[in-house]
Amino acid sequence: MARILARLTWNEEVAPGYHLMATEAPEIAAQAAPGQFVHVRVGPSYDPLLRRPFSILRTDKAAGQVWMLVKVVGRGTRLLAGMAPGTTLDVMGPLGHGFPEPPLWDEVVLVAGGVGVAPLIFWADRLQTAFSHVRVVSIYGAATEEALACWLDLAARSDEFYAATEDGSAGEAGLASDALRGLLARRGVGTIYACGPRPMLAACAAAAAEAGVPCFVAMEQWMGCGVGACLGCVVPAAGGGYLRVCSEGPVFAAEALDWEALAR
Ligand SMILES: Cc1cc2nc3c(=O)[nH]c(=O)nc-3n(C[C@H](O)[C@H](O)[C@H](O)COP(=O)(O)OP(=O)(O)OC[C@H]3O[C@@H](n4cnc5c(N)ncnc54)[C@H](O)[C@@H]3O)c2cc1C
Ligand code: FES
Repeated sequence: MARILARLTWNEEVAPGYHLMATEAPEIAAQAAPGQFVHVRVGPSYDPLLRRPFSILRTDKAAGQVWMLVKVVGRGTRLLAGMAPGTTLDVMGPLGHGFPEPPLWDEVVLVAGGVGVAPLIFWADRLQTAFSHVRVVSIYGAATEEALACWLDLAARSDEFYAATEDGSAGEAGLASDALRGLLARRGVGTIYACGPRPMLAACAAAAAEAGVPCFVAMEQWMGCGVGACLGCVVPAAGGGYLRVCSEGPVFAAEALDWEALAR
C-alpha cells in the first residue's frame, strides 16, 4: 500500500454525473488487483475530513496511471469531479482484497449495477489477459441508457454482453439482477461476481444461492480510515459478528454476509 501525492491527468464527464478520472500513481498502478480500491482526499484541506473510497477501474502500469469512475452523489464527489487535470490529489492504495480467481475453464458472469461497473471492467480486463481459458458473460444495469457509463469498456472485454435498463431505453427492461435470473434459468454458469447497489447484490446473492452457483460481491460502504483500524465500515457477517469492508473486503463470498441484517 502506498500514499501518494498524485497528479490528476484526466477528468472527463463520460455520462451525466459520471466522471472518468486518472491519476499518476505508479506505485499503486504496479500493485493493484481488480476489486481493490483507492482512498482519496477530495480537497487540499481537512474539510471534508474523511477520504472517499473509489474502485480501481483500470491501471496502466507503463504510464503509472490509475483510473477510476466517479459518480457525483454528494459534496466529496462533487469536489473531486470539479478538479482540473494538473491538480494534486492525496491518494492511498491499493486497499482491500480483490476478486478471487475463477476455476480453470469456468464461465463467469459479471453483474454490474451503476457505478459498480468500475471494478468489473478491471476484472474483465484481467480475466481476458491472464485467464484466457475463462469465458466472460457480463450484465450491466442502470436506470437509463445514458447512465450506462463506460459500457463499451465492459462489452469489449466480454465474450457475451447484456445491458438492462429500468426504463427499457437499452437492452432488457428491468434490473441487472432480473437479467441474471433469466440467464440462470436458461443455462448453468460457473462463478458470479457482482458490484452495485446493495439491493442488487442481495438479489444476485439470492439468485446464485438458489442456482447453487458461487457468488462474490464487491460491497460499497461508508468508510473512515480505510485500513481496518476504526471499524467505521463494518457489515454483519453470516453466523454473527461483523466484517470490515475496507480490510476483509470489499470483495466477499456472498454466503459470508448476513443479507437479512444488511437489508434492515
Ligand atoms: C470499496 C468502495 C468502492 C467504491 N467505488 C466507487 C466507485 O468506483 N465510484 C463511485 O462513484 N463511488 C464508489 N464508491 C462510493 C463512494 O465512495 C461514495 O459515493 C462517496 O464516498 C460519496 O462521497 P460524497 O462526499 O460525494 O457523498 P456524501 O455527501 O458523503 O453522501 C452522499 C450520498 O451518498 C451516500 N454514500 C456516501 N458514501 C457512501 C458509500 N461509501 N457507499 C454507499 N453510499 C454512500 C450517502 O448515504 C448519501 O446518500 C465506493 C465505495 C466503497 C466503499
Ligand atoms: S474504514 Fe476504518 S476499519 Fe474500515
